[in-house]
Amino acid sequence: MAQTETKTAEAAAAFQPRIVAFVCNWCTYAGADLAGTSRLRYPPNVRIIKLPCTGRIDPLFILKAFEGGADAVLVSGCHPGDCHYTSGNYHARRRWALFRRLLDLTGIDERRLFFSWVSAAEGQKFADLVADITEKVRAAGPLEPANPARRRL
Ligand code: FES
Repeated sequence: MAQTETKTAEAAAAFQPRIVAFVCNWCTYAGADLAGTSRLRYPPNVRIIKLPCTGRIDPLFILKAFEGGADAVLVSGCHPGDCHYTSGNYHARRRWALFRRLLDLTGIDERRLFFSWVSAAEGQKFADLVADITEKVRAAGPLEPANPARRRL
């Protein structure tokens, strides 16, 4: 019994969550870049996909990421009032709030979808965010895809 528990704990510790981050070019991507150039340490579990604005992030991108093997998805962009396209992040926030509730219908726990504002000056915030998400997803365990053959990440 104790040996089984040890193996389960080892498997949980060995699990490396795959996180896909859809970020806007102007704020969060620059914040992630600042984290890198500042040599801040954060888990290497995130794959960043840069888009012009969070307003461009289609909910299908998120579903595709989960279908492709992501254990969690992060959407992050400019703070309210700072969007370089005026209101893209407001549209994204509204879309995200609705989509998050619909995600449960697909069988994916909505707690695997994260949303955040990270500016170009917030490298530390980006590093902390990735570390926090990684730990939460590690605790939740891997997301088992409906069709394991489609796991590509
Ligand atoms: S440009 Fe960053 S959210 Fe619109």
